[in-house]
Amino acid sequence: MAANKDSTLRTFTVIGILCLVCSFMVCIAVVTLQPLQAKQIQNDRERSILEAAGIGINGDISKTYAENIEARLVNLANGKYVPNDKAAVIAGKDKNGMALIDGYNFVSAARLPDSSVAIETDKDTAKIRNRAKYMPVYLVKNTVSGGYKSVILPFYGQGLWGTMYGYLAVAGDGNTVMGVKYYSHNETPGLGGEIENPKFTQKWIGKKLYDASDAPAFAVVKNASGDHQVDALSGATLTSNGVTNSVKFWTDSMGYGPYLQRIKKGGIK
Ligand SMILES: Cc1cc2nc3c(=O)[nH]c(=O)nc-3n(C[C@H](O)[C@H](O)[C@H](O)COP(=O)(O)O)c2cc1C
Repeated sequence: MAANKDSTLRTFTVIGILCLVCSFMVCIAVVTLQPLQAKQIQNDRERSILEAAGIGINGDISKTYAENIEARLVNLANGKYVPNDKAAVIAGKDKNGMALIDGYNFVSAARLPDSSVAIETDKDTAKIRNRAKYMPVYLVKNTVSGGYKSVILPFYGQGLWGTMYGYLAVAGDGNTVMGVKYYSHNETPGLGGEIENPKFTQKWIGKKLYDASDAPAFAVVKNASGDHQVDALSGATLTSNGVTNSVKFWTDSMGYGPYLQRIKKGGIK
């Protein structure tokens, strides 16, 4: 007797086989695409850092990045670089034993008790609650005369709709802004989303982060004037305030304050 093609068992067997085949294909896609995704994330990070540094990319991003940028890990508590062997323990190491500082995930580190510190509410202007003990910083090499031109500091804080992530470039005086790049945020396009717009970010260049008594003084405000202020985004006062508060936190004592003080005294090295 011929098997019943419409039997329940047959239907479930076909569904089961189909599920197995599909999940196998999804697994293959995930595994094979992983290196491509990792490379894409790395490219995006390198492109943003180079943009904050004001360095044009010509040709290969990673090559331009390697020629111009040196990543170090900073202990924010004292503003000192973490020695490379300790950085390799904190950030992980590549197959040659070199510390993987470039990809150090300071956002994940800020969520784990061992690798983070809690921020007292009155100091938490960026509204991030915890921050990583160590942050990567990106030294911009002076490819002509040696030494470093500036340093790129990752920073983040609350905007109107979510956390805004950026890179701030600071000159060797530890005070002058050389550039800024916001690379991730949830602000409204055309309003708060204008933090990405070069017309806005160009205005940061040359502004000072600290006043004469070394207190954080940079601000994004309406009718900006003087050395420390940038004009607020129109129709986006709340985002503008978020930017001011983020920069204030990261340039103060709980952020890069000790590191920037060290640079101010001894330059970038
Ligand atoms: C749909 C919608 C999206 C908005 N997005 C933003 C935003 O991304 N950033 C922001 O500061 N204000 C945003 N606002 C406006 C704020 O609610 C608020 O009115 C504004 O920040 C005040 O800024 P102003 O004093 O420059 O007008 C948005 C308003 C609406 C209705």
